[in-house]
Amino acid sequence: MALNTNLEAINKRRIFGIISHPDAGKTTLTEKLLLHGGAIREAGTVKARRNSKFATSDWMEIEKQRGISVTSSVMQFEYQNKIVSIMDTPGHNDFGEDTYRILTSVDSAVMVIDAAKGVEAQTKKLFKVCSMRGIPIFTFINKLDRQAKDPLEILEDLEEALGLPSVSVTWPIGSGLTFQGIYDRLKNKVYIYRTDYVIELGEKGVFGDELNDVISPTNLEILRNEIELIEGAGNEFDMNQILKGKLSPVFFGTALVDFGVTAFLEHFLDMSPAPAARKTTTGEVSPTDDFFSGFIFKIQANMNPAHRDRLAFLRICSGTFERGMNVTLSRTGKQFKLSQSTMLMANERETVDTAVAGDIIGIYDSGNYQIGDTLTTCKDKLFFEPLPTFPPELFMRVRPINSLKAKHFQKGVQQLAQEGAIQVYTNDYNEIVLGAVGVLQFEVFEYRLKNEYNCDIRMESLNFSVVRWVKTDNPSSLKQYENARTMIVYDHFMRPLLLFANQYTLNTFAERNEDVVLVEALDVESELN
Ligand code: G4P
Repeated sequence: MALNTNLEAINKRRIFGIISHPDAGKTTLTEKLLLHGGAIREAGTVKARRNSKFATSDWMEIEKQRGISVTSSVMQFEYQNKIVSIMDTPGHNDFGEDTYRILTSVDSAVMVIDAAKGVEAQTKKLFKVCSMRGIPIFTFINKLDRQAKDPLEILEDLEEALGLPSVSVTWPIGSGLTFQGIYDRLKNKVYIYRTDYVIELGEKGVFGDELNDVISPTNLEILRNEIELIEGAGNEFDMNQILKGKLSPVFFGTALVDFGVTAFLEHFLDMSPAPAARKTTTGEVSPTDDFFSGFIFKIQANMNPAHRDRLAFLRICSGTFERGMNVTLSRTGKQFKLSQSTMLMANERETVDTAVAGDIIGIYDSGNYQIGDTLTTCKDKLFFEPLPTFPPELFMRVRPINSLKAKHFQKGVQQLAQEGAIQVYTNDYNEIVLGAVGVLQFEVFEYRLKNEYNCDIRMESLNFSVVRWVKTDNPSSLKQYENARTMIVYDHFMRPLLLFANQYTLNTFAERNEDVVLVEALDVESELN
């Protein structure tokens, strides 16, 4: 019976996303992981892809011009009998809502931190989304080949900046010029830097004699002191806490030199969870449930300019996907035949005929789907939990240059908002205000309105950077708060939001108006529905 075969296939699957601040080494680590899995032959492929001429459609012009990847994809490799999918989370200039949204489809996250810098701004934002979902977060402290912060200080930083307790699985021996290796606390082994030399330690661990002639006396003393400290005062290794995302296993290494990466990968595959049950509005769906179900977390537009097709990224949550199957779109109750489907691989798109829970597939869409939609063969109505609203930080007022194009403009805005390309608000003056997480979202918006809706627009940057929804029965009472540093807009459910110039303006507002209930973007679904 299909169920058992599925169970085996599901248990092999691992889907994760990498979160990091730009330049911490996400791309380099991804490349090394793919190399170990034999998915690509040489390092540089991931970066090369970003700069390559692979883009053929007009839509990809924007990518070529900017030399970046707007189209995120899944990179898959096999390692020790596990099928591992890395969801590409766009960073740098292409940071946007998609980066956040991808994290709703993964079962765990790997957080890459630059050992000289510690926790940085973008990591914090991405971490918040992962921690809200309660998924396990694995930390890879990178660039140990360079002078690094004290490792204990880095762990403290995780706790202070993110509120994330951690437990080190591997530990560095020196850094930069004094870097000599990595101690694997769980396997009781030391890997010697820039060699294949691995030392198996005895019962006494790093306090035994095995390291005496291999590690410099200074490094050995520091290592022993640190290990004594973390064994005495550090957190205990607790798999339950790890799986709940309440304790992060920490690894050290250098992605560039490919050192510490194998140790990380092997532990990661042991500890990270296979696809698990997912919440719906009426209970949970298990990956082994017979009926097919999945949700759309990303819609990619206009891959083929001749057809204007969109590609919807679907995370399968239960059952078996078979090409040509009929599914129901829960939101409308309409039936669709899924005849065009694709695996989303880094460098090629292959037609996919069957897939199981834990797989991500692309399905062609002629404008029927929205972000967050559930597709299923279940006879009962089923809705996966709505995707969170992500906090926009950039705002623009926008209007068509030619007022005769107002209809095209409205249609385009509505369509792009539906796709989740950008957040769209209105204000009391009948103006459209756009909210975005990254500037690229505005560029894409402008490009697509021109190319797909034949409408040139004028955008005017607004001086706001922080947003809060407001819980109120009387939105018109908010009018009194509007001034040069605070603006009222409404989302598509006509829920009021206040835009603030900056965090300081928000804090002052909150102090002066304690009776106004402000809700953060990530809490909107739970607080306002
Ligand atoms: P990102 O995707 O997180 O933005 O980072 P990416 O991997 O592109 O790495 C950013 C820079 O840091 C790159 O250098 C990369 O080579 C370097 N890097 C990554 N891992 C390590 C490491 O373990 N040690 C050291 N020393 N450097 C590391 P770049 O000069 O900006 O680019 P490139 O010219 O080397 O490609």
